[in-house]
Amino acid sequence: MSPYLKRVKVGFVGSGNMTKSIVSGLVRGNQDEDFKISKNFYVSSLTEERARSISKKYDVHFAKHNDEILEECDWVVLSMKPQDLPDFLNSYGKSFDENHSVISLCAGISTDSLKKELPQIKNLARLMPSTAAEFGSGVLGLYSESKSFTQDLSQYFKSVGSVQVVQSEDFLDGIMITAASGIGFLLEVLQIWSEWLEDLGFSKAQSEEIAKQGFNGVSDILKSSKKDIYQLQAEVISKKGVTLAGLEAMRSSDLDMALNKGFEAALRRSHELSKLV
Ligand SMILES: NC(=O)c1ccc[n+]([C@@H]2O[C@H](COP(=O)([O-])OP(=O)(O)OC[C@H]3O[C@@H](n4cnc5c(N)ncnc54)[C@H](OP(=O)(O)O)[C@@H]3O)[C@@H](O)[C@H]2O)c1
Repeated sequence: MSPYLKRVKVGFVGSGNMTKSIVSGLVRGNQDEDFKISKNFYVSSLTEERARSISKKYDVHFAKHNDEILEECDWVVLSMKPQDLPDFLNSYGKSFDENHSVISLCAGISTDSLKKELPQIKNLARLMPSTAAEFGSGVLGLYSESKSFTQDLSQYFKSVGSVQVVQSEDFLDGIMITAASGIGFLLEVLQIWSEWLEDLGFSKAQSEEIAKQGFNGVSDILKSSKKDIYQLQAEVISKKGVTLAGLEAMRSSDLDMALNKGFEAALRRSHELSKLV
């Protein structure tokens, strides 16, 4: 990491699931003896409790008020729900100065909307993470009009997932829906897997264990193989076999339509949220 990135101070406004995952992932991924990344983090929350808890667990600074984040930090990460962003900007928008860089995690809120509220900010970025950041896996979509800020952020966040720089922020929705909401969608599939085993008579615990390990197996295959997802699937399908029979029935029941409907509904919700600011 460059000397600048080692000393940059980063403040998270909001201490929910996403902040916890990112802070945890960054701390785990940067364990240099001479450099403790957590020393440069600040976290705040509305009711103090969640920020205090993250501060204690990851040894980061607790900011009692958002003013402290704006006074101390170079990068300010907007990590509250999109619905809470207007109130925050009404209260603190004018306290930002041109030396602050702003990174918004808020789903659906466009760069143009943020620019209108924070016209003084030169370095503005949108980051689309997922809770897999906690384990250094998953995808982080990144969009910024500043090339140098994009480079800094790609470098800074590489330990918490695969950073995917996109040229148009419309692509962030695709990343959010498949990689962030996608975790929720895949877990829905996993629940169906597990409940089917329960219907067969397995206990709940055993059903969940079998379903989880089945997915872990897929994840390991994906990590270790260079083959594409179509080749990998072909390897488990034998002619006139059991897997093929199952897949044919799923395909004729329009599994793709159910998933595509889900993606489209999520996209519509993201567009609704974009009108909040
Ligand atoms: N969760 C995901 O998988 C995911 C994926 C991609 C993007 N995102 C985006 O990440 C952002 C955070 O999501 P989340 O799931 O972490 O939400 P969350 O768990 O609801 O946490 C939101 C946090 O914001 C705090 N907050 C609200 N208004 C504030 C203010 N004015 N000042 C300081 N803190 C304030 C809340 O404080 P209290 O704790 O006191 O209520 C809470 O700690 C959202 O914009 C979301 O769109 C989330």
